Amino acid sequence: MPTPETVRVLDSTLADEHLAILRDRDTPSPAFRRAVGCLTTLAIAESLRDLAAEPGTVQTPLATAPVRRAARRITVIPILRAGLAMLDPALALMPDRARVGFLGMARDEETLRPRVYLESIPDDLSDDDVVALDVMIATGGSSVAALDEIAKLRPATLRLVGLLAAPEGIARVADAHPDVSLTVAALDERLNDRGFIVPGLGDAGDRLYAPARLPAH
Ligand code: PRP
Repeated sequence: MPTPETVRVLDSTLADEHLAILRDRDTPSPAFRRAVGCLTTLAIAESLRDLAAEPGTVQTPLATAPVRRAARRITVIPILRAGLAMLDPALALMPDRARVGFLGMARDEETLRPRVYLESIPDDLSDDDVVALDVMIATGGSSVAALDEIAKLRPATLRLVGLLAAPEGIARVADAHPDVSLTVAALDERLNDRGFIVPGLGDAGDRLYAPARLPAH
């Protein structure tokens, strides 16, 4: 089991409220996407609480005020498809100079191994605090593969923000990337024999983008 130092887990009633919406099998896609957005905001705030800062000043209407700003540029990298729903809420919190990269990963339903089908990441990350986003960390295979690709570009710091994780996935990510800071909204009990998080929320990508429960018009 992961230790508390291995992963930060949100501890807030508002986060629990949005998790309840995500877990409910009757939640339609629009409400599901909104809950993903709200939880992303909370999880990003927690993950970047200790972001390196540098001091400055601004002029208020009355006087000079001391301020703090992010010391480095931030690059956000959603892992498609599901992580795409976390991008806009994450960017809304970022300084204007933040950049975006993309990693497309699909998990083979039989082998549970991830396949990279898209990689579009700014190639110089050495001055960047990088934040990778994925809704689910199940076996951890997709997260490890994504972090492997990003780590090759030697970012100044690297964080992974997820919404739901299994202990097995967290352990695998922490083992492969001990220097990566992990934050999730919730840590569930286990994986089932199909590699799904239990109790979980089902297939996040399908629930975000394949609204089977909504009428076609
Ligand atoms: C899901 C999820 C993660 C991955 C987690 O993506 O969004 O990326 O599986 O599983 P893992 O930890 O066992 O690798 P999926 O491959 O289903 O693609 P999608 O986001 O396009 O639905």
